[in-house]
Amino acid sequence: MSEQTGAPGAARAELVRQIYLAGISGHKPELSTDLTSLEEAARAVLEPHAYAYIAGNAGTGTTGRANREAFERWRLLPRMWTGVSERDLSVTLFGQRLDAPVLLAPVAAQTVAHPEGELASVRAAADVGLPFVLSSVSSHSMEDVAKAAGSEPRWYQLYWPNDPAVAESLVRRVESAGYAAIVVTVDNPAFGYRPCDMDTAYIPFVHGHGIANFTSDPAFRAGLPEDGGPLAAAGHWAKISSNPALTWDDLPRLRSWTTLPILIKGIQHPDDARKALASGANGVVVSNHGGRQLDGGVAALDVLPAVRAALGPDVPVLMDSGVRTGTDVVKALALGADAILLGRPYLYGLALAGQAGVEHVLRCLLADLDLALALTGSRSVADITRDLVVPSGPLAP
Ligand SMILES: Cc1cc2nc3c(=O)[nH]c(=O)nc-3n(C[C@H](O)[C@H](O)[C@H](O)COP(=O)(O)O)c2cc1C
Repeated sequence: MSEQTGAPGAARAELVRQIYLAGISGHKPELSTDLTSLEEAARAVLEPHAYAYIAGNAGTGTTGRANREAFERWRLLPRMWTGVSERDLSVTLFGQRLDAPVLLAPVAAQTVAHPEGELASVRAAADVGLPFVLSSVSSHSMEDVAKAAGSEPRWYQLYWPNDPAVAESLVRRVESAGYAAIVVTVDNPAFGYRPCDMDTAYIPFVHGHGIANFTSDPAFRAGLPEDGGPLAAAGHWAKISSNPALTWDDLPRLRSWTTLPILIKGIQHPDDARKALASGANGVVVSNHGGRQLDGGVAALDVLPAVRAALGPDVPVLMDSGVRTGTDVVKALALGADAILLGRPYLYGLALAGQAGVEHVLRCLLADLDLALALTGSRSVADITRDLVVPSGPLAP
């Protein structure tokens, strides 16, 4: 645990006071505290193909831009003198208490950003007290990442492979390695059309990044030729990794393999949210994959209220795609989310300074969020209600 923030759950805005105090002896933060500026900083240190893979979007980038524009269209309407000297950021999801309504989104092949990849990110998450969601396509195996997380919570994101033996084997390992929930991503029946990656002719997986959960899996290895090296493994992975035949009728099979909570990630239509729950899921993540899959799609924030309305107040609804600041988190919570997943910003921190860079990003986000609670007159996450946001423009008298 770092000395900078104190114990998890301590007033996160304390970071801001510490930064100003350190300024007396001439210290400035090594990375900017403006998380929206880290993309440009990361671009300067990453190889062009690595930057393109992380920052890039599908097609012309319309969905990615829409995600940010949706946050811009909502404004916070703060309330005063509500007594905010003590603030509680904690939330409870599936009976698990989280220090804050923030998780680290599943992001593939993190050794593209930094040699330590997911191990650096999960250690940072653990130090700051936030759950890490490990991608199926990680550069370190789920067991190694679990070890690095120690006793801190972690979830696992599943891309359901088309080989049933591998799918079941992965899920059994997830349970044994102490992951607390499974997030099934459904917005990828195919890899999106991404000119940014095609123009650099780069995808991490064929270069050996991101298939550690498979090369360490007995069911996957059983399908490899005996003399197969890394190229054979990547080739076999490419054959089994996507599963465009899946329908909602398949979900009960996954349900029968695990007692863990199952969340469906990539929900963008209220009817799909209903189908997910009816098929055995326990919650959903409203997401368009950060605009990386379907171009010209809806902003995730724009569909969040409809999904919340479809599922009612008690079903866990998480969201991601476009969250960059603490005030974005407040807007998402006010519009129906129980928690958000932070995506690219922590990858930029990873690229810039490894574990310390991810910690910096997470601490800044939480400080901003803690202050946003104070400044909107909210003492706890429960106080963040729909009337805290209004559409941009004059308030009706
Ligand atoms: C480089 C990169 C790789 C990603 N890999 C995965 C993945 O393996 N599984 C998944 O469910 N989502 C993946 N995502 C999507 C994120 O989980 C999340 O939905 C997205 O980053 C949110 O958008 P934002 O980063 O613009 O806020 C990836 C995103 C990025 C940027």
